[in-house]
Amino acid sequence: MRRSQRLKHLLNSPQATILMEAHDGLSSKLAAEAGFEAIWASGLSISAALGLRDCNEASWTQILEVLEFMSDSVDIPILMDGDTGYGNFNNVRRLVRKLEQRNVAGVCLEDKLFPKTNSFIDGERQALATVDEFCGKLRAAKDTQTDPDFVVAARTESFIAGWGLEEALLRANAYVESGADAVLVHSKRPDGSEVLAFAEAWEQEVPLVIVPTTYPQEPLERFVAAGIPNFIFANQSLRTVITALQRNLAKLRQTSSLMSIEEDIAPLSEVFRLQDMSELRSSERIYLPSRSSAPRALVLAASQGDFGDLVNDRPKCMVPLRGKPVLQWQVEAFRRLAITDIGVVRGYQPQAVNLDGLRYFDNPDYATTGELQSLYAARDYLSGDLVLTYGDIVFDDFILEALLARDHPISIGVDAAWRFRNRRDARPDLVQTDGIAHPATQSQCNLVRIGPDVPEPEASGEWIGLLSLRGGGTQILASELHRLATEEPETLRTGTLDQLLSRLVTAGHSVSAVHTWGHWGDLDGPSELEAA
Ligand code: SPV
Ligand code: MG
Repeated sequence: MRRSQRLKHLLNSPQATILMEAHDGLSSKLAAEAGFEAIWASGLSISAALGLRDCNEASWTQILEVLEFMSDSVDIPILMDGDTGYGNFNNVRRLVRKLEQRNVAGVCLEDKLFPKTNSFIDGERQALATVDEFCGKLRAAKDTQTDPDFVVAARTESFIAGWGLEEALLRANAYVESGADAVLVHSKRPDGSEVLAFAEAWEQEVPLVIVPTTYPQEPLERFVAAGIPNFIFANQSLRTVITALQRNLAKLRQTSSLMSIEEDIAPLSEVFRLQDMSELRSSERIYLPSRSSAPRALVLAASQGDFGDLVNDRPKCMVPLRGKPVLQWQVEAFRRLAITDIGVVRGYQPQAVNLDGLRYFDNPDYATTGELQSLYAARDYLSGDLVLTYGDIVFDDFILEALLARDHPISIGVDAAWRFRNRRDARPDLVQTDGIAHPATQSQCNLVRIGPDVPEPEASGEWIGLLSLRGGGTQILASELHRLATEEPETLRTGTLDQLLSRLVTAGHSVSAVHTWGHWGDLDGPSELEAA
């Protein structure tokens, strides 16, 4: 059943129906969760929650905004307190259209004048609309609705204004003639006598609704038995919030201690549940690209480095570059690309490598061993997608991004601008490839040879020291390390990463090369540090 149909059905059933006040998305949800079958979008409560008076101070579109949040928050029908309709019949028509668009099940219009005042404030001084004028509004509403079940309830304020039973009956009958689907007869007496007298004289089929705010002690059964089955609990959620907030705010103010109320308030987990965060989590798994497996990173940073006094008490990865350690620059680059699981292999002065949030592995034999031994020290970390890097390089984000974008088990970053770099490395990791693959061209090429033996004329670039391994690639690398450990321990002890890559190529594994152009540096000594 559509919401409007459900509301109509509820109002017309002889059983008691309570329309529970709500004033925003959260209170609507709570009302629905508590088991109420319908919601009263109270003008008083919405205004008060906005910090305003119930005198049409909030514009009708502002109220509509709130209604939209409420409607989006629940499945149960909402009857909107439409006050006087915010103008004449024409304003009512527009209101009905907008409510239907927002899946609000119905509107209740009252026979006062715009701007209205709450019924419990100086009721006798409030002027009522003429019967004809108000009937025109009701007819306009009924003629406008496109959903046949949209509910238009007519509320008479005859008792509130002190005009008596006869006027109330006259008006209510006229409103039914004009198409009202329900009649709300309001009273501010401390008992139910007025509304019961009205029900006694009421001869129409159209269902009655009351708002027992000023006679809360009266049992609802009494009214049901008298032919009034529908009740608006018009402001009790708002008043609950006020009381609870006042009490707890006073405690907090007095004690300055969060513990003074901690046990009495909903835990944050309850807030998240009400926001249905679990739905978002499961939808993310369906719709977000699965970077759930953001790679890990492993930084090989065991060596001391040739930086003179700068590395007396720390390795070169901790040498400051523009105010922060080289390793910090790397860690920040990784984190910008959502790589948060970062491991570092330490060797020289391990206690000086102490950035927060990293995993540390140690190669105590760093002075007499090479990169493969350091890698082996982190062998338990070698799983899933992994980015490997030397601890003495800095690079622009786009290089790492290009490398991560390459969908290949093993990829290396290659600087195609190496000939233009203003330095001559003692042992450049020159790279020979079967082509040049620039990320912009989407082309791919593979590593043929790597290392100091590559003749310069045949080199397409220099290895930057960045290596990306997708799950399968990490496995290949880990197996090769394991094989070396058992079969060629000396190679494992002294070997370099480019030697390992060469072995992999020789063994028939394809290693993809990602060429970029400059924008990185390896910090072999003070002059490179200065250049960086
Ligand atoms: C409201 O809740 O805004 C109402 C009911 O209109 S009453 O406050 O009783 O007028
Ligand atoms: Mg109201």
